[in-house]
Amino acid sequence: MIPTKVLWLAGGAVAAAGAGAYLAYRERRRREAEGDTRTNRAYVEGAAYSDIGGLHREKALIREVVELPIREPDLFASLGVTAHRGILLTGPPGCGKTLLARAASRESGAHFEVVAGPEILSKWVGESEANLRAIFHRARESSPAIVFLDELDSIAPKRAGLQQHHEVSLVTQLLTLMDGMEQFPGVVVIGATNRPDGIDSALRRPGRFDYEIRIGMPNADERREILEVHTRNMPLGDDVDLGDISAQTAGYTGADLAALTREAAMETVRRRRPVVSGPPTPVSSLKVGYADFMSAMEKIEPWFRRIDGGRHS
Ligand SMILES: Nc1ncnc2c1ncn2[C@@H]1O[C@H](COP(=O)(O)OP(=O)(O)OP(=O)(O)O)[C@@H](O)[C@H]1O
Ligand SMILES: [Mg+2]
Repeated sequence: MIPTKVLWLAGGAVAAAGAGAYLAYRERRRREAEGDTRTNRAYVEGAAYSDIGGLHREKALIREVVELPIREPDLFASLGVTAHRGILLTGPPGCGKTLLARAASRESGAHFEVVAGPEILSKWVGESEANLRAIFHRARESSPAIVFLDELDSIAPKRAGLQQHHEVSLVTQLLTLMDGMEQFPGVVVIGATNRPDGIDSALRRPGRFDYEIRIGMPNADERREILEVHTRNMPLGDDVDLGDISAQTAGYTGADLAALTREAAMETVRRRRPVVSGPPTPVSSLKVGYADFMSAMEKIEPWFRRIDGGRHS
């Protein structure tokens, strides 16, 4: 028979090991939460309204529906209405939805929580609902706050098409959390998606995502403004006319124009390499010229041409 004392010691060791494991678990969760906060900061860093070309109407709308309830939570109640709680940004890929939401989150000065679509979901496997609850909880505790759900279609797809139980319960959890927001006037949820038809329709009912801002393809003036943003720190040759480049880039999204300016700079770098031996052009006299943009345009195709083989061109 094993003496009681030995059993007692063994029990103590197990308890100590259990407590150690629990403390390690707590520490891991604390570090993860800290990491999440850092991720949130990094996510909105460098995004300001001044970094967005065009989208003047959209910027004004988002300020109105996001910043007003945050700055003056009682304003709407005093008029006998409730502010919009969920704002949905929709539109084609690369047109500035994420950029606009990041800028609004940062410039509102509110606490913000970000769920960056599929990336974060895979990190959360098995505990997605708990994490979503924790995010909304933190937002309520730190009100005024913004919860930004990027790529909402991957977080809350139509339930009918889902096979896995945990995916369905995440959508249901989000619906419940959004319904509970009425009591917290200082919290606003922004969702962004390029597939609005792909999200569960229950999310678009009144009181949930009931305000939509559509972000379309940029027109010529907006393309010029986007080019201005992306060439702000670029030494441009005297022959570069951004108005002329914007006229030639119909069908390019903001992301395409960002890629175009990057590629034009790469062309300049390539030109710098001497064809015959000799010292390269000094960095201080390098300029991105019109010809560099034209060469870049041959390589950077607008978004629609990439996906359907150029039927629009
Ligand atoms: N209006 C704009 N002004 C300046 N840059 C822009 C603009 N729109 C897009 N861009 C550039 O394109 C990049 C991608 O844009 P963004 O991530 O906001 O697109 P999105 O609409 O969220 O696309 P997706 O639907 O694929 O998520 C931005 O980081 C920025 O460099
Ligand atoms: Mg996006």
